[in-house]
Amino acid sequence: MRRPAASASALSEDERLTLVEADRRLRDDFASDVRAGLTAVNKTLPCRYLYDAAGSHLFEAICDLPEYYLTRAELSILAERADEIAATAVDGAALVELGSGSATKTRILIDAMLRRSKPLRYVPIDISRSMLEESSRALLADYDDLEITAVAAEYRAGLRLLRREREMRKLILWLGSNVGNFGRRDAAKFLAGVRATMAPGDRLLVGIDLRKSREVLEAAYDDAAGVTGRFNLNLLQRINRELGGDFDLGAFRHRARWNERLGRVEMRIVSQARQRVTVAQLDLDVVFEAGEGIYTESSYKYSPDEIDRLARAAGLVIEERWLDAKERYSLNRMAPQSA
Ligand code: AVJ
Repeated sequence: MRRPAASASALSEDERLTLVEADRRLRDDFASDVRAGLTAVNKTLPCRYLYDAAGSHLFEAICDLPEYYLTRAELSILAERADEIAATAVDGAALVELGSGSATKTRILIDAMLRRSKPLRYVPIDISRSMLEESSRALLADYDDLEITAVAAEYRAGLRLLRREREMRKLILWLGSNVGNFGRRDAAKFLAGVRATMAPGDRLLVGIDLRKSREVLEAAYDDAAGVTGRFNLNLLQRINRELGGDFDLGAFRHRARWNERLGRVEMRIVSQARQRVTVAQLDLDVVFEAGEGIYTESSYKYSPDEIDRLARAAGLVIEERWLDAKERYSLNRMAPQSA
């Protein structure tokens, strides 16, 4: 990775952008994952495939929905605490973001970091290459003192790259309650992997959605305008487009249910009738019973105690936890345990 130039603003936008493709296997995996998921006894599809170009834009629309409080809650905490957060990063630290998406919220922290020292290196890591390029170019157009190393990769490949860049001081962001897509054990394991890339002075900021009432949660994941439904069903459209499937999107429905015991919202695509679907490129015929679902996504929610346990299991300590005014959402600043 290049070092930040003394004055980044002397460089053009193109010169300030480095695109790294750390993961080339995404496409082949899709075919074999779809085959495995649709032939399983309990049909399932991995949620990471929700984020193609169309899915990423639908997710952006979800973030603006009145029912989807998460983004606004996180934004309000960030707006209030950005300077305090930036002050905990060592001078000259890079801003690394896992699952950056459109990076709208990140601007608040970029502003705060730039108030302390210039130039700033921003390292967004995201599986959506299109979203990554789009958001990077938008940021570079708006910030002269920013250099971006954009990493198109899944989390695992992203962490591998960060381990190779161990000498880079950093503030790592994992926002948006993206941790919610992991089972609790996997979440701890993943965070331990993040911890392994950190020096004692590095900090990690994790946005985590809190447990709350069924009404609020189910509305957030099954909105009145049907955007979340389109986001979920885009997965079938993607199979149609990329693998020659003949899913009739009108014959399936999105469903979101809060599972209190497991502390997660469960999202499924439910078949409205008994039907047969063909996926030509997989040479696959799949029968759906009426009411049968494809499990597509979990969104785990945490109590404050569960967050403490999660951090501890990953070798991290929580230095600070902030909640939004309605106490629906948390932002947690973590440090390596031995620090
Ligand atoms: C991107 C995992 C944080 O769980 O809130 C939103 C994904 N799915 N609505 C979430 C999602 C449907 C979102 N995360």
